[in-house]
Amino acid sequence: MPESTPATARLRRIGELALPPVGLGCAALSGFYGAVKGADGVRVLRQALGAGPALLETGVSPDRATGVVRRALAGRRERTVVVAGDATGDVERACDAWLRELGTGHLDLFYVSRSPAGLEETVGRLGALVAAGKVRHIGLSGVSADQLRRAHRIHPVTALVREYSLVHRDIEAELLPVARSLGIGVIAGCPLGRGLLTGRIRTPEHLRSGDPRRLDPRFRGERLRQSVRLLPLAEEMAAELNVSLSRLALAWLLAQGEDVVVVPSTRNPLHLEMNLAAQHVRLTPEQRAGLERVFTR
Ligand SMILES: NC(=O)c1ccc[n+]([C@@H]2O[C@H](COP(=O)([O-])OP(=O)(O)OC[C@H]3O[C@@H](n4cnc5c(N)ncnc54)[C@H](OP(=O)(O)O)[C@@H]3O)[C@@H](O)[C@H]2O)c1
Repeated sequence: MPESTPATARLRRIGELALPPVGLGCAALSGFYGAVKGADGVRVLRQALGAGPALLETGVSPDRATGVVRRALAGRRERTVVVAGDATGDVERACDAWLRELGTGHLDLFYVSRSPAGLEETVGRLGALVAAGKVRHIGLSGVSADQLRRAHRIHPVTALVREYSLVHRDIEAELLPVARSLGIGVIAGCPLGRGLLTGRIRTPEHLRSGDPRRLDPRFRGERLRQSVRLLPLAEEMAAELNVSLSRLALAWLLAQGEDVVVVPSTRNPLHLEMNLAAQHVRLTPEQRAGLERVFTR
């Protein structure tokens, strides 16, 4: 199937949330990986939110949300599932900041990645935000399987919002089975391994100076070399399927179950189109197993 296949979203269901399999993460648009040309940011957002039901994952820093996101949402709010996060633990303040920044009355899913006040108290406070109508569903990011069970007893958790990709599969050992047993879905962050699974980063020099990935041990020395050594096998499979490596990597995640959706981030309209098209790639069990033999847990 050619890369330019248009996206017709067949919605997936996570708890009561119906959402498209491929959303847009805003990390790249927020300038995390380098400057974004204003026109590109607008095009990416228009394209991501324009076609129909959309999923927008804004990240954890409201101060990074630009007016571009707010303007893109206006008029499309009803058709967009907005997922926002908090990394401070001050959930009321963070939620209010998102509502203000995005110009919206509620967040469809609000997740926390840190709970300095203690897990139970934080989840109780998230539940209060739901009762107040500011948040529809709650999510968690940096939790263990045990913490997930405990949280779910205090207030129903709709989704885990976690890093999950072919190069980062540790969620599969314990957390994913427990989430499934509780009916909790997964919003897979960094589904392209922060760019590793695009094949464009093979040495640290492929990252511009100042790129935060230069400080990430996964993008240095032997760890990077090890990951890069795995790519040709996946690239071969991608070539057989006539798709890009990134599209194959997203298709593998989507094949993990109907309770998984992905939020790759990009500032490039063509990359967005390629990512959306991943939902049309069907992998056979043999192809999935082949990838899993190469990219072990
Ligand atoms: N780490 C976590 O635990 C976690 C938790 C929750 C949420 N998230 C969320 O996950 C979202 C995505 O994560 P991320 O941006 O760190 O990593 P990612 O989506 O795995 O990778 C993004 C990188 O891939 C490139 N890219 C995207 N599509 C491409 C394509 N088709 N071809 C070539 N290159 C492509 C982007 O560059 P271009 O701009 O050049 O396309 C960007 O450098 C974020 O919004 C983040 O908030 C992460």
